[in-house]
Amino acid sequence: MHTTAHAPRTERIRSLPKAEVHAHLEGCFQPAVLAQWATEAGVPMPRPREHLLAFEGLADFLHFLDWACGLASTRERLAELSYGFSQRLAESGAGYADVIVNPTHWKAWHGRLPEMIDAIDAGFASAEQDGLPPVGLCVSLLRTQSSDAAAELVDALIALGHPRVVALSIDGNEAAAGRTSPRFAEAFRRAGAAGLRRTVHAGESSGPEGVRDAIELLGADRIDHGVRAIEDPALVALLAERRIPLGICPTSNLKLGVYASIDDHPIDRLRRAGVVVSINTDDPVLLGASLEGEYALCSDAFGWSDEDLRTLARHSIDASFANADVKAKLLERLSRW
Ligand code: HPA
Ligand code: ZN
Repeated sequence: MHTTAHAPRTERIRSLPKAEVHAHLEGCFQPAVLAQWATEAGVPMPRPREHLLAFEGLADFLHFLDWACGLASTRERLAELSYGFSQRLAESGAGYADVIVNPTHWKAWHGRLPEMIDAIDAGFASAEQDGLPPVGLCVSLLRTQSSDAAAELVDALIALGHPRVVALSIDGNEAAAGRTSPRFAEAFRRAGAAGLRRTVHAGESSGPEGVRDAIELLGADRIDHGVRAIEDPALVALLAERRIPLGICPTSNLKLGVYASIDDHPIDRLRRAGVVVSINTDDPVLLGASLEGEYALCSDAFGWSDEDLRTLARHSIDASFANADVKAKLLERLSRW
């Protein structure tokens, strides 16, 4: 039987106890399922089947999410999507994930946030009952929203007090929206005061100044992407000193055009500068990224040792919003890897 040279090492990476801290539920649609739902609903495809996942960049990708999420109109579809995420997580050897969901994309659920969170929770709860890893939910604002809309979401999350929801997030296209963190500062402050963690997309479609704003204006506990911090050495030093973790997604950065090749990607330079970095998939199915594949891609490109992989896995667990018990168990398993 034919086996690739990488197969044994991929198995070893699978066995590495780790967490995923930057993945979007919106990025988990199977293209065949989307095509079927679109046919059933009589909704036209945004482009031909064979090019469905050929994204031109972040703006095109975000537009596609609106189309895809618009088709996920029932509780069953949302619950199945969530369950499927947990299955893939387990197959990648992860013991926990923080998952981002951005209600703005999900047209069918507008005005029904509690029902939407309940449907997602049902999928993750049944996955956990089946022995799959636990998941925390990060509910996300979009960069183009108003401060009123942000206040409304935070009010709703605080009133709901759902145990599945661990964080407030913000994502979207900063290149198109401009500098928006001042507009969202009050919403993030209130979320933090109410006990929610804070995770912020920055330093992908924004430069290092976006990462600085995420820290100074939004009180980010973690930065999603953050890779363009590399352009400002003082910021790199600040991230390292304050131990603010970056949730890095190499394949996403390549496919959405932030870097031309893995050799140009700054993850290894950030790591060597003492920044707490973790490896993640962003939008696993839509961008064709698996967690073990992301570790393998970087490990091959930068020649990482087992000790380096262990440190990256530890950072992923430390950076996660898992509860103390889940973290302790994962770290204990890691110490025996
Ligand atoms: N960046 C910004 N917003 C997003 C992304 C991303 O990589 N993925 C899904 N929403
Ligand atoms: Zn993302």
